[in-house]
Amino acid sequence: MFPENFVFVLFGATGDLAYKKLLPALYQAVRFNPELIKGHFICLGRSASNRDDYLQTVKQFLCEHSTIAFDEKHWQNFIQKIIFLKLDADNDADFDALKTEIDRLNAAVKIYYLSTSPKLFTNIVTHLKRNDLHLGDARLVLEKPLGHDLQSAQNIHKIVSDAFDEKQIYRIDHYLGKESVQNLMAVRFGNRLLEPLWNRVHIRSVQITLAEKIGIESRGLFYDSTGAMRDMVQNHLMQLLCFIAMEPPYNLSPDAIRDEKLKVLRSIIPSTPALALKNCVMGQYISGMMDGQNVCGYRQEHDVNPNSMTETYTALKLYIENWRWTGVPFYLRTGKRLNQSLAQIVIHFRSVPHRLFTPPVGLTSENRLVLNLHPNDEMRLYMAAKPAGNHHHLQSVSLNMNFAEQMNQRRPTAYERLLCDIIKGDLSLFVRYDELTEAWHKISPFLDLQHHYPDVLKFYTAGSWGVPDASVLLRDKKARWFEDELKYL
Ligand code: BG6
Repeated sequence: MFPENFVFVLFGATGDLAYKKLLPALYQAVRFNPELIKGHFICLGRSASNRDDYLQTVKQFLCEHSTIAFDEKHWQNFIQKIIFLKLDADNDADFDALKTEIDRLNAAVKIYYLSTSPKLFTNIVTHLKRNDLHLGDARLVLEKPLGHDLQSAQNIHKIVSDAFDEKQIYRIDHYLGKESVQNLMAVRFGNRLLEPLWNRVHIRSVQITLAEKIGIESRGLFYDSTGAMRDMVQNHLMQLLCFIAMEPPYNLSPDAIRDEKLKVLRSIIPSTPALALKNCVMGQYISGMMDGQNVCGYRQEHDVNPNSMTETYTALKLYIENWRWTGVPFYLRTGKRLNQSLAQIVIHFRSVPHRLFTPPVGLTSENRLVLNLHPNDEMRLYMAAKPAGNHHHLQSVSLNMNFAEQMNQRRPTAYERLLCDIIKGDLSLFVRYDELTEAWHKISPFLDLQHHYPDVLKFYTAGSWGVPDASVLLRDKKARWFEDELKYL
């Protein structure tokens, strides 16, 4: 249920994320949930000169980034509810003006969405508290990355938790808003077939890949001080790992799910610097060809230090030490300027105990369950069967399920879904503080790797599949990354 009267305050409303994702998502949310029009949206930014200019820019981005066709009538309704204020997070007077506006609206629910650099989080929260804006039904939404490392995440939390209770804090990881990611739990726990096989006895390894063709776009400043480990591993990849490895929660309440995810994070074997070196590969792209076009190397990108050592690719191997998973390697990979845009989980099953048939050339007949989250939301099960006329050999055949096609329903975008949940007050798809710190804790040795081993960073050509050395992570010599296996399937 949406509240009758709410105010949604967007800090960083003139930033990239707001223009490309949040405002299009709000526009769509209001379009498909007409009751949201009862609320007000206060957009705060520094760079637009006035409301008209601001809305003009919002409209341009919306036409390009919304997943629904632009509709002038809906746009006019939507903007009636948008208030634009200039705000500098260091300026007390700007917060006074914000308070006056919020008091005037007298809303039952106040939502503060901080789509800004994490460096500004504590400043903004301190100002909200000083102006009593945190009182009543107030919710604070924090965008990732939440801090730069464990220490800074804890520092932010100290200030934030002084004003807001954990139940009022919505830590966004937009991957949790994706239908395909939520479907992971549904597929795992809604089907009898999978659970008996979902463990170390039957599973040989798990590969989780988040590959992107795009480079760093206009985010050089942000990315150069962040890197792939902080941008993608600490949050998106760790969350996917949790969904694949967690035990069934006792119900679907936010804390039941988060308790189980936390157990997975806690069970990851902590790395020492030497272990981290053995289990991690880092790379940075150099110029190359993508879709027939020359693209520049990372160090030539705008706002990037020409001697930058920031990783744009990383692959790592983690082990989870518990009854279900001991000994099963989990391979996590992500990178920019890779050969394909792909979000994929591959569950590689062990072979049958006694082989009666000869496996296909170049491959074992081991089953693979492939969960594709992007670009298609689908599940493929690679099985072995006998080709006609051959008595002893096996061939790989696949069973394909395209969820989006079979369900044939409109799927809200990740941010649209999460924004609606925040307004409703549903915390299920948000990250709890203990999960956040545990994820930071477990990736800290990898973040420190370059400090201990300055040569760890390798280079890869844009348009390739990343650092070739990443294959050495695969424990079993016969194991391959799934894109290489596909050639034989
Ligand atoms: C963001 C990262 O969290 O996720 C970006 O900051 C990345 O660098 C993006 O491109 C990927 O999200 P999606 O939904 O396009 O897979």
